Amino acid sequence: MKFFVDTAEIADIKELAETGLLDGVTTNPSLIAKSGRDFMEVTKEICGIVDGPVSAEVVALDHETMMKEAETLRKIADNVCIKVPLTIDGLKTCKKLRADGTMVNVTLCFSANQALLAAKAGASFISPFVGRHDDNGFDGMALIEDIHQIYSNYGFETEILVASIRNPVHVLQSALIGADVATMPPAVIKGLFKHVLTDKGIEGFVADWAKTGQTIPTA
Ligand code: E4P
Repeated sequence: MKFFVDTAEIADIKELAETGLLDGVTTNPSLIAKSGRDFMEVTKEICGIVDGPVSAEVVALDHETMMKEAETLRKIADNVCIKVPLTIDGLKTCKKLRADGTMVNVTLCFSANQALLAAKAGASFISPFVGRHDDNGFDGMALIEDIHQIYSNYGFETEILVASIRNPVHVLQSALIGADVATMPPAVIKGLFKHVLTDKGIEGFVADWAKTGQTIPTA
């Protein structure tokens, strides 16, 4: 399973990239606004930190302007993945961009039928938003299960990129279903490393080792 970080904060991306476990980055207009950075500049900087896909979202609502924005965004770097909304214009844009091999992430997916349409449009990634789905009284993980089943029924190559993840349980459930990617806020990725018994175990080993008075030679 690939791990993407869902942020435009450079310090967080650098810190997570240093673990060697980060496979990509997703951004959206809200995250760019939160960063306070220039969209083009920060996207270029992120693309230089990670080798994997960096999603940069178009903001136009019509196909023609989406294509023009995508043209600008894909020149930023080879690892830019153009993010388009799940609308008729968004999927027309997806289909056209995929024809020449441009990576496309179709975002704001809230139903399995929408995911089916995105796969038919040749999307590289489909982004179902599980947290927002749960927040509105639906079952986000049931949506991931349905999409996974449909994609496997027809052998679609579109990768399921679970988005709007709120906690480590969302990651666990996505992995059990077999989703391809999880994009998470930095705090959720860091939370995956944590366990109270790991901390307690380290504390015990450190204390007992100190009693031996020994050191392990490091040079
Ligand atoms: C994914 O690409 C989106 O940017 C993101 O996961 C949305 O998450 P939110 O619901 O926490 O805003």
